[in-house]
Amino acid sequence: MNVVCIGTGYVGINTAAALAYIGHSVCGVDIDEHKINLLKSHKAPISEAGLDELLSQKMNLTFTTCLEDCVNTADVIFIAVGTPSLPNGHANLSYVMSAAEDIANSLMPIHDVTIVVKSTVPVGVNSMIERQIRDKVTMRCGSDALLHFSSNPEFLREGMALSDTFYPDRFVFGTEDDKAYQMLTTLFAPIIDQTFEPPAFVEMPDPRPKTQCIHTDAISAEMIKYASNVFLALKISYANEIAGLVEKLGGNMDDISRGMGMDKRIAPYFLKSGLGWGGSCFPKDSLALLSMAKDYDYQMPIVQAAVDVNERQKTRLIQKVIDKLHILPGRRIAILGLSFKPRTDDVRNSPSVDIAKELVRRQAIVTVHDPQGLDNARVIYKNEGFIFCTDPIEAAQNADAIIITTDWAEYKNIDWKDMAKAVKTPFLFDARNLLRNELDKVKDFVYIGM
Ligand code: UGA
Repeated sequence: MNVVCIGTGYVGINTAAALAYIGHSVCGVDIDEHKINLLKSHKAPISEAGLDELLSQKMNLTFTTCLEDCVNTADVIFIAVGTPSLPNGHANLSYVMSAAEDIANSLMPIHDVTIVVKSTVPVGVNSMIERQIRDKVTMRCGSDALLHFSSNPEFLREGMALSDTFYPDRFVFGTEDDKAYQMLTTLFAPIIDQTFEPPAFVEMPDPRPKTQCIHTDAISAEMIKYASNVFLALKISYANEIAGLVEKLGGNMDDISRGMGMDKRIAPYFLKSGLGWGGSCFPKDSLALLSMAKDYDYQMPIVQAAVDVNERQKTRLIQKVIDKLHILPGRRIAILGLSFKPRTDDVRNSPSVDIAKELVRRQAIVTVHDPQGLDNARVIYKNEGFIFCTDPIEAAQNADAIIITTDWAEYKNIDWKDMAKAVKTPFLFDARNLLRNELDKVKDFVYIGM
């Protein structure tokens, strides 16, 4: 099939490349010329395991900044642009609406074409987009009969994006149009049935999963996306709330999470306590869900509590640091980890960065290190007063305390003996509980977990 993917961010580029790999002819479209030029030379604009390798495979994958180049041969058009938060918590729909506008202005349907919203959009936006495109196309071409629409939310995780794209737990197709449903199930058939040749450079879950499909209406599909992300966020907040009580009463939170997770109904995932959740999705989606509810005069106290507990984790960590160091002005503090989670260079909306900023605000001298995110951080946070260090030991030099803010595996294998020699006072705050079960490695430190 001929596929167009509007947006080459995390969702768009991984979807485009995977669809090309399974045999479709795909064109990726983006307004960012720099990104498109990188992609044309087979380079990924984001750091994602296996993506550079995938982009250099022989396949039918092209890129352009001009939608008109490819829109009229497309069988399926994905809208996969960002929906960041507005200051009031609502999702910013300007990119999605402008993609819809571009389609509406350039599409001249001479064969069936299915327009699919992959971006995370609030409930009702799929139908708004459909209305806008149908009206304009009818005005220009006299008929909208060949247009079909579906919501198809995306569930990939950064850092595992390709693995999640090739081996998803489920597909959600939100459409009441049989043709759209048929086209999407045909498009994704090799993934739904897991019949493609596994790419060697993409992590495959063991056992290879059985991908499930749910066919529903667009409103339910939109809500499945928000309800899933926010459920995961509140699962983490719940683990963090329990961890706070365990700190007072005694007990081993890792064992408690493990013990809970052995119950199939609870499952072992997203129960890891620590500094809390960040990234481009959980914070924005929880706020968007709360804003949607507020618009309809509906209270969501559980979601609000998940957000509050997540914020409280940062305050708890700062308080722990104050309890040991007493005063912060002039203290030298090494922050290990800036990305919002390991295996990504994404340092946006990162709780780790919030901690570094708060320490600077309180006049501490803050050195920062990250295995992958340092280059991004140097650009985005150049005016925050951080001292960027390319090595953890450089960051630890003469420090009054070290804080592990992101659970990078690399930090497990640092020579902690050398780190202890480098610091001025051996306080180690492990805000991700990375070394909680390997205390031997850090026995030269006063160890404080979360
Ligand atoms: C999340 C969802 O997991 C994806 O399914 C979804 O598609 C994506 O949002 C999205 O909407 O685009 P992602 O933001 O990449 O994916 O990150 P996660 O791996 O879910 O982690 C989110 C945050 O939770 C991170 O800050 C991580 O450190 C934290 N976390 C995760 C915990 O604190 N504890 C855990 O047990 C798990």
